[in-house]
Amino acid sequence: MRKYLIIGNWKMNQNRSETAAFLDDFLPLYKKNEDVEVGIAPPFTSIGVCGDKLSESSIFLGAQNCHWEDSGAYTGEISAGMLKECGCSFAIIGHSERRQLFGESDEGVNKRALALLSAGLTPIVCVGETLDEREQGEAFNVVTRQLERGLAGVSPEKLSQVVVAYEPVWAIGTGKTASTAQAQEVHKLIRKVIAKLGGDSISQQTRILYGGSVNDKNAASLLRENDIDGALVGGASLDAQKFASLVGFRV
Ligand code: PGA
Repeated sequence: MRKYLIIGNWKMNQNRSETAAFLDDFLPLYKKNEDVEVGIAPPFTSIGVCGDKLSESSIFLGAQNCHWEDSGAYTGEISAGMLKECGCSFAIIGHSERRQLFGESDEGVNKRALALLSAGLTPIVCVGETLDEREQGEAFNVVTRQLERGLAGVSPEKLSQVVVAYEPVWAIGTGKTASTAQAQEVHKLIRKVIAKLGGDSISQQTRILYGGSVNDKNAASLLRENDIDGALVGGASLDAQKFASLVGFRV
Protein backbone atom coordinates (compact mmCIF):
# COMPACT_ATOMS: atom_id res chain seq x y z
CA MET A 1 0.00 0.00 0.00
CA ARG A 2 1.04 3.58 -0.61
CA LYS A 3 2.23 5.46 2.46
CA TYR A 4 1.07 9.01 2.85
CA LEU A 5 3.72 11.63 2.14
CA ILE A 6 3.55 15.23 3.38
CA ILE A 7 6.19 17.64 2.09
CA GLY A 8 6.78 21.15 3.41
CA ASN A 9 7.85 23.49 0.60
CA TRP A 10 9.33 26.49 2.35
CA LYS A 11 9.94 28.43 -0.88
CA MET A 12 12.20 31.47 -0.22
CA ASN A 13 11.48 31.49 3.53
CA GLN A 14 13.38 30.52 6.68
CA ASN A 15 17.04 31.55 6.74
CA ARG A 16 19.50 29.46 8.74
CA SER A 17 18.59 30.81 12.16
CA GLU A 18 14.86 30.70 11.42
CA THR A 19 15.25 27.11 10.21
CA ALA A 20 16.98 26.13 13.46
CA ALA A 21 14.31 27.89 15.53
CA PHE A 22 11.48 26.27 13.51
CA LEU A 23 12.90 22.78 14.01
CA ASP A 24 13.55 23.37 17.71
CA ASP A 25 9.82 24.10 17.98
CA PHE A 26 8.56 21.53 15.50
CA LEU A 27 10.53 18.40 16.38
CA PRO A 28 9.24 18.08 19.97
CA LEU A 29 5.67 18.44 18.61
CA TYR A 30 6.15 15.91 15.80
CA LYS A 31 4.72 12.48 16.51
CA LYS A 32 5.98 9.86 14.11
CA ASN A 33 3.23 7.83 12.46
CA GLU A 34 4.19 4.65 10.55
CA ASP A 35 1.62 5.45 7.83
CA VAL A 36 2.83 8.97 7.09
CA GLU A 37 6.21 10.04 5.73
CA VAL A 38 7.26 13.66 6.12
CA GLY A 39 9.79 15.78 4.25
CA ILE A 40 10.99 19.38 4.34
CA ALA A 41 12.39 21.36 1.41
CA PRO A 42 14.12 24.48 2.78
CA PRO A 43 15.94 27.07 0.65
CA PHE A 44 19.40 25.88 -0.51
CA THR A 45 21.26 27.94 2.11
CA SER A 46 19.30 26.31 4.96
CA ILE A 47 19.76 22.73 3.75
CA GLY A 48 22.88 22.22 5.93
CA VAL A 49 21.36 23.35 9.20
CA CYS A 50 18.07 21.62 8.40
CA GLY A 51 19.92 18.35 7.70
CA ASP A 52 21.82 18.61 10.99
CA LYS A 53 18.62 19.17 12.95
CA LEU A 54 16.80 16.34 11.15
CA SER A 55 19.66 13.84 11.43
CA GLU A 56 18.11 12.03 14.41
CA SER A 57 14.61 12.05 12.95
CA SER A 58 12.87 10.10 10.19
CA ILE A 59 11.97 13.29 8.32
CA PHE A 60 13.33 13.53 4.78
CA LEU A 61 15.39 16.46 3.60
CA GLY A 62 14.91 17.85 0.10
CA ALA A 63 15.46 20.77 -2.25
CA GLN A 64 13.16 22.97 -4.28
CA ASN A 65 14.92 22.62 -7.62
CA CYS A 66 18.08 21.25 -9.23
CA HIS A 67 20.03 21.41 -12.47
CA TRP A 68 20.26 18.42 -14.79
CA GLU A 69 24.02 18.45 -15.43
CA ASP A 70 26.43 16.94 -12.89
CA SER A 71 28.78 19.93 -12.91
CA GLY A 72 30.13 22.62 -15.21
CA ALA A 73 29.72 26.24 -16.26
CA TYR A 74 26.14 26.80 -15.03
CA THR A 75 26.38 29.87 -12.83
CA GLY A 76 23.89 29.82 -9.99
CA GLU A 77 22.88 26.20 -10.44
CA ILE A 78 23.11 23.16 -8.15
CA SER A 79 23.24 19.52 -9.30
CA ALA A 80 21.40 16.45 -8.06
CA GLY A 81 24.71 14.97 -6.89
CA MET A 82 25.47 18.07 -4.83
CA LEU A 83 22.06 17.81 -3.20
CA LYS A 84 22.64 14.17 -2.44
CA GLU A 85 25.96 14.98 -0.80
CA CYS A 86 24.10 17.43 1.48
CA GLY A 87 21.77 14.65 2.60
CA CYS A 88 18.81 15.41 0.33
CA SER A 89 16.69 12.49 -0.75
CA PHE A 90 14.25 14.37 -2.98
CA ALA A 91 13.82 17.56 -4.99
CA ILE A 92 10.69 19.39 -6.07
CA ILE A 93 10.77 20.11 -9.81
CA GLY A 94 8.46 21.94 -12.17
CA HIS A 95 6.75 23.97 -9.45
CA SER A 96 4.36 26.44 -11.08
CA GLU A 97 6.35 29.34 -9.61
CA ARG A 98 9.44 28.03 -11.44
CA ARG A 99 7.43 27.57 -14.62
CA GLN A 100 5.73 30.99 -14.47
CA LEU A 101 8.43 33.21 -12.98
CA PHE A 102 11.58 31.52 -14.29
CA GLY A 103 10.42 30.14 -17.62
CA GLU A 104 10.90 26.47 -16.86
CA SER A 105 9.51 24.12 -19.49
CA ASP A 106 8.26 20.54 -19.54
CA GLU A 107 11.51 19.62 -21.30
CA GLY A 108 13.55 21.13 -18.45
CA VAL A 109 11.41 19.26 -15.94
CA ASN A 110 12.12 16.07 -17.87
CA LYS A 111 15.90 16.60 -17.80
CA ARG A 112 15.75 17.33 -14.07
CA ALA A 113 13.63 14.23 -13.39
CA LEU A 114 16.09 12.02 -15.28
CA ALA A 115 19.09 13.57 -13.50
CA LEU A 116 17.54 13.14 -10.06
CA LEU A 117 16.60 9.53 -10.75
CA SER A 118 20.05 8.66 -11.97
CA ALA A 119 21.54 10.25 -8.83
CA GLY A 120 19.15 8.15 -6.72
CA LEU A 121 16.94 11.02 -5.57
CA THR A 122 13.16 11.19 -5.72
CA PRO A 123 11.78 13.81 -8.10
CA ILE A 124 8.58 15.43 -6.90
CA VAL A 125 7.15 16.47 -10.26
CA CYS A 126 4.64 19.30 -10.01
CA VAL A 127 1.83 19.66 -12.52
CA GLY A 128 -1.30 21.78 -12.58
CA GLU A 129 -3.46 24.06 -14.65
CA THR A 130 -4.01 27.82 -14.38
CA LEU A 131 -7.44 29.30 -13.73
CA ASP A 132 -7.76 30.24 -17.40
CA GLU A 133 -6.95 26.73 -18.49
CA ARG A 134 -9.50 25.29 -16.04
CA GLU A 135 -12.18 27.69 -17.22
CA GLN A 136 -11.51 26.70 -20.82
CA GLY A 137 -11.97 23.04 -19.92
CA GLU A 138 -8.27 22.34 -20.52
CA ALA A 139 -7.24 21.09 -17.07
CA PHE A 140 -7.01 17.41 -18.06
CA ASN A 141 -5.11 18.17 -21.27
CA VAL A 142 -2.61 20.44 -19.52
CA VAL A 143 -1.89 17.95 -16.76
CA THR A 144 -1.60 15.06 -19.21
CA ARG A 145 0.83 17.03 -21.40
CA GLN A 146 2.95 18.10 -18.42
CA LEU A 147 3.19 14.48 -17.25
CA GLU A 148 3.86 12.92 -20.64
CA ARG A 149 6.59 15.43 -21.46
CA GLY A 150 7.96 15.72 -17.94
CA LEU A 151 8.32 11.96 -17.58
CA ALA A 152 9.36 11.09 -21.14
CA GLY A 153 12.03 8.41 -21.25
CA VAL A 154 11.68 7.44 -17.58
CA SER A 155 11.74 3.63 -17.43
CA PRO A 156 8.84 1.88 -15.66
CA GLU A 157 11.26 0.76 -12.96
CA LYS A 158 12.37 4.37 -12.30
CA LEU A 159 8.80 5.63 -12.61
CA SER A 160 7.96 3.81 -9.39
CA GLN A 161 10.35 6.19 -7.60
CA VAL A 162 8.67 9.32 -8.92
CA VAL A 163 6.21 11.33 -6.83
CA VAL A 164 3.71 13.54 -8.65
CA ALA A 165 2.24 16.67 -7.07
CA TYR A 166 -0.97 18.07 -8.51
CA GLU A 167 -1.07 21.78 -7.72
CA PRO A 168 -3.79 23.77 -9.47
CA VAL A 169 -2.09 27.14 -9.96
CA TRP A 170 -5.23 29.01 -8.87
CA ALA A 171 -5.12 27.28 -5.47
CA ILE A 172 -1.49 28.08 -4.58
CA GLY A 173 -1.09 30.64 -1.82
CA THR A 174 -4.60 31.94 -2.49
CA GLY A 175 -6.50 30.26 0.32
CA LYS A 176 -8.68 28.63 -2.39
CA THR A 177 -8.37 24.87 -2.16
CA ALA A 178 -9.70 22.65 -4.91
CA SER A 179 -12.75 20.79 -3.65
CA THR A 180 -12.01 17.21 -2.69
CA ALA A 181 -13.98 16.08 -5.77
CA GLN A 182 -12.06 18.43 -8.11
CA ALA A 183 -8.75 17.20 -6.71
CA GLN A 184 -9.70 13.50 -6.74
CA GLU A 185 -10.85 13.75 -10.36
CA VAL A 186 -7.46 15.05 -11.51
CA HIS A 187 -5.55 12.62 -9.28
CA LYS A 188 -7.46 9.76 -10.89
CA LEU A 189 -6.50 11.08 -14.32
CA ILE A 190 -2.84 11.33 -13.23
CA ARG A 191 -2.88 7.69 -12.10
CA LYS A 192 -4.28 6.73 -15.52
CA VAL A 193 -1.52 8.64 -17.32
CA ILE A 194 1.12 6.95 -15.14
CA ALA A 195 -0.46 3.58 -15.97
CA LYS A 196 -0.14 4.39 -19.66
CA LEU A 197 3.52 5.31 -19.17
CA GLY A 198 4.58 2.52 -16.85
CA GLY A 199 1.77 0.00 -16.41
CA ASP A 200 -0.96 -0.57 -13.83
CA SER A 201 1.13 -1.95 -11.04
CA ILE A 202 3.57 0.99 -11.15
CA SER A 203 0.70 3.46 -11.19
CA GLN A 204 -0.80 1.80 -8.11
CA GLN A 205 2.52 2.37 -6.29
CA THR A 206 2.96 5.98 -7.40
CA ARG A 207 2.23 8.61 -4.80
CA ILE A 208 0.25 11.60 -6.00
CA LEU A 209 0.25 14.59 -3.67
CA TYR A 210 -2.19 17.47 -3.70
CA GLY A 211 -0.93 21.02 -3.20
CA GLY A 212 -2.61 24.40 -3.00
CA SER A 213 -3.63 26.01 0.29
CA VAL A 214 -3.50 22.74 2.25
CA ASN A 215 -3.62 23.35 5.99
CA ASP A 216 -4.26 21.55 9.25
CA LYS A 217 -8.02 22.08 8.84
CA ASN A 218 -8.57 20.77 5.30
CA ALA A 219 -5.85 18.08 5.03
CA ALA A 220 -7.84 15.15 6.41
CA SER A 221 -10.77 15.54 4.01
CA LEU A 222 -8.47 15.78 0.99
CA LEU A 223 -6.40 12.81 2.13
CA ARG A 224 -9.51 10.69 2.53
CA GLU A 225 -9.87 10.58 -1.26
CA ASN A 226 -8.77 7.36 -2.98
CA ASP A 227 -6.05 8.80 -5.17
CA ILE A 228 -4.72 11.55 -2.89
CA ASP A 229 -1.63 10.14 -1.20
CA GLY A 230 -0.28 13.20 0.53
CA ALA A 231 0.22 16.93 0.30
CA LEU A 232 2.74 19.51 -0.84
CA VAL A 233 2.34 22.30 1.67
CA GLY A 234 3.61 25.87 1.34
CA GLY A 235 2.29 28.48 3.78
CA ALA A 236 1.10 26.05 6.45
CA SER A 237 4.52 24.37 6.62
CA LEU A 238 6.11 27.57 7.97
CA ASP A 239 4.30 27.44 11.30
CA ALA A 240 5.64 24.68 13.58
CA GLN A 241 2.37 24.18 15.43
CA LYS A 242 0.23 24.07 12.27
CA PHE A 243 2.63 21.82 10.40
CA ALA A 244 2.84 19.41 13.34
CA SER A 245 -0.92 19.22 13.53
CA LEU A 246 -1.16 18.85 9.73
CA VAL A 247 1.28 15.92 9.58
CA GLY A 248 -0.58 14.34 12.50
CA PHE A 249 -3.83 14.28 10.45
CA ARG A 250 -6.25 11.38 10.82
CA VAL A 251 -8.36 10.41 7.84
P1 PGA B 1 0.51 26.89 -0.49
O1 PGA B 1 1.68 26.47 -1.50
O2 PGA B 1 0.28 25.71 0.43
O3 PGA B 1 1.03 28.10 0.23
O4 PGA B 1 -0.69 27.17 -1.32
C1 PGA B 1 1.77 25.16 -2.01
C2 PGA B 1 2.92 25.07 -2.98
O5 PGA B 1 3.17 26.02 -3.72
O6 PGA B 1 3.63 24.04 -3.03
